[in-house]
Amino acid sequence: MNLPPIIGHRGTAGLAPENTLAGIQRAHQEGASFVEFDVKLTADAVPILMHDDSLGRTTNGRGKVALKSFDEIQELDAGAWFAPEFAGERVPSLRATLELCIELGVGVNVELKPCPGREEETARLALRTLAETWPAHLDLQPPLISSFDRKALASAGAAAPDLPRGCLFTRVPGSWRATFAALACSTLNVSNRWIRQKHVEAASADDIPVLVYTVNDPDRAVDLWDMGVTAIFTDRVDLMVDALKSR
Ligand code: G3P
Ligand code: MG
Repeated sequence: MNLPPIIGHRGTAGLAPENTLAGIQRAHQEGASFVEFDVKLTADAVPILMHDDSLGRTTNGRGKVALKSFDEIQELDAGAWFAPEFAGERVPSLRATLELCIELGVGVNVELKPCPGREEETARLALRTLAETWPAHLDLQPPLISSFDRKALASAGAAAPDLPRGCLFTRVPGSWRATFAALACSTLNVSNRWIRQKHVEAASADDIPVLVYTVNDPDRAVDLWDMGVTAIFTDRVDLMVDALKSR
């Protein structure tokens, strides 16, 4: 993979409501060429963009995502909570999101965020949507599929063995290589809080890109890039683009 140094996190979650089309458009406007977003299933098994298992934090709805149909979720406002100018923003389907990213020429990291018990189904249906939507020969990096959930990653590998997978860790366990190898992953995705030079050195020695989330301090981003980190996920694409220019 040839990933850019900046990946918009949930679109660009510091500048626009997370996991929305407006957020992806904003990330693109600010100069991101790659965005990350979280995917889970509605009650009727439609892959949508949503981080939490519940609707309350990022929409004006309540209750569990897994218990609401796609049509019910489409009734909700996913932007007003963030700022009044985003009122009317909807929870996007994965399909609509991929279509927008293709139109904008923005690469994607699809983070599988399954609701409990729906790990394999989430991976299978998200990968099916990708196969139906993302042209095989597009002049873009292939979609990176990541997850904290090992079952979901394994299912993604079975459904689309050729798509690169990112192994997400909060802390990097001593046994990370075994997990990484068992799931045939391509990137090591680690929390900003727990990433250490030794992890970057170990991964780099094997040409494994290290991706660090979530970095919103430009000085920290420069330190990480200097350390050999390939890419950072950021809520503030604007600040990171400036940091990269003045590096
Ligand atoms: O994929 C990087 C990052 O998004 C993982 O954590 O909780 O923000 O989805 P989270
Ligand atoms: Mg995420």
